[in-house]
Amino acid sequence: MVLPFTEPFKIKMVESINKSTKEEREQWIRDASFNLFKLKSEQVFIDFLTDSGTGAMSDRQWSAMMLGDESYAGATSYYNLKKAINEITGFSYFLPVHQGRAAENVLFSVLIKEGDIVPGNSHFDTTKGHIEFRKARAVDCTADIAFDSTSFHPFKGNVDLDKLENVLRNNPKEKISFIIVTITNNTVGGQPVSMENLKGVRRLADKYGILFFIDSARFAENAWFIRTREEGYADKMIKEIVREMFSYADGITMSSKKDAIVNMGGFIGFKDEELYQKASVYNIIYEGFITYGGMAGRDMNALAQGLYEGIDPEYLRSRISQVSYLGTRMKDYGIPVLEPFGGHAIFIDARKFLPQIPLEEYPAQVLAVELFIEGGIRGAEIGTLMADRDPKTRENRFPSREFVRLAVPRRVYTNNHMDYVAAAVKNVFDRKASIRKGFRIKKEAPILRHFTVELERL
Ligand code: F0G
Repeated sequence: MVLPFTEPFKIKMVESINKSTKEEREQWIRDASFNLFKLKSEQVFIDFLTDSGTGAMSDRQWSAMMLGDESYAGATSYYNLKKAINEITGFSYFLPVHQGRAAENVLFSVLIKEGDIVPGNSHFDTTKGHIEFRKARAVDCTADIAFDSTSFHPFKGNVDLDKLENVLRNNPKEKISFIIVTITNNTVGGQPVSMENLKGVRRLADKYGILFFIDSARFAENAWFIRTREEGYADKMIKEIVREMFSYADGITMSSKKDAIVNMGGFIGFKDEELYQKASVYNIIYEGFITYGGMAGRDMNALAQGLYEGIDPEYLRSRISQVSYLGTRMKDYGIPVLEPFGGHAIFIDARKFLPQIPLEEYPAQVLAVELFIEGGIRGAEIGTLMADRDPKTRENRFPSREFVRLAVPRRVYTNNHMDYVAAAVKNVFDRKASIRKGFRIKKEAPILRHFTVELERL
């Protein structure tokens, strides 16, 4: 008999999670103005709000923390991190920052000016926020296949190279700050970008003389998908695939809270020394001196170790398998989920789940709230609330996607937890016809409103 595949780790420390009653949860979510970000974490049983900063560090990472060097300048921890980044990504220059959006803030301060455009594949909301905050525009060149939630395509995160070339051809070069490609593409469902596509973006970047950056938060999961889905990569090591992916870019922004399995941290990687020097000035203003930039020495040590663990093929196999296990359970119950399953999360199609709720009443938010009430599960709305209003017209933007994302933290939950979540979703699915009304916004911020929005039931 072939032995089943298991997690390549055992558990040394556990953290209790709290069960509660439906009545309690109904009251808590009402008190939170139906915004899951406003809940206390102790009110949540299974927390799938995000896979960012919520992973479990290893014994090696914890021991590396004890060896952290907290010197202001030139700490050994900085050099440990430099070595890991150089070996894994191939970039010679880097700046540590406290998280991914800080990397965006520092880099974009150098490269984006008012009126610019930044083409990419479904920019993440903080990326778009940092672009629009500078009165520039994010132009989405995602391949159309990404918006078909059921057909199988191995690389739904890809850039449509024709759309990208149109943007590059029809705009003056000095108006295009850079191209940014997100791997995996979180916004369209944790879908990977192929090596072929990254090569294609590089070709266009060279042809038009534009810089090309990768938003690399989930780079290791992307490499796993290339190895398992793209011709010619089945026998390559993850390490080699990662190096090749990054070899096509001029630099990367990194939120280390995902694939590097730390609770806080990030960095910017650069090929070019001059750009690194320019960004260093902003790093010092916004983050901290260039050898710590918003991170404690111990955190840089844990990150250096985490980068190696994140590209371990045995770990990646268990990671991707667990997410896919959850997706399969839900699919078996007939729940409309995005396919193929994402690397870090399962996305439920709220329009199909609750067709009776119009987009103006935020169906994905309605579903997310119902999942909390049903099972104490906290997911995230990736839909109309998150899409914010158009900066000019102030009208709601209705994105083509209206999802609830169940993002699975790394090395935290067992497959029993996955079974529990799938069963709770099924229970809501069984009573979906009784959900008749959505929400109205009581209060919202002008940008990134989903974090603080207050809602009321219609
Ligand atoms: N880029 C991508 C693709 C992301 O998914 C995120 C964060 C960021 C940049 C920003 O990084 O949070 O460290 O500042 N994504 C989290 C999520 C918040 O839940 O998907 P950060």
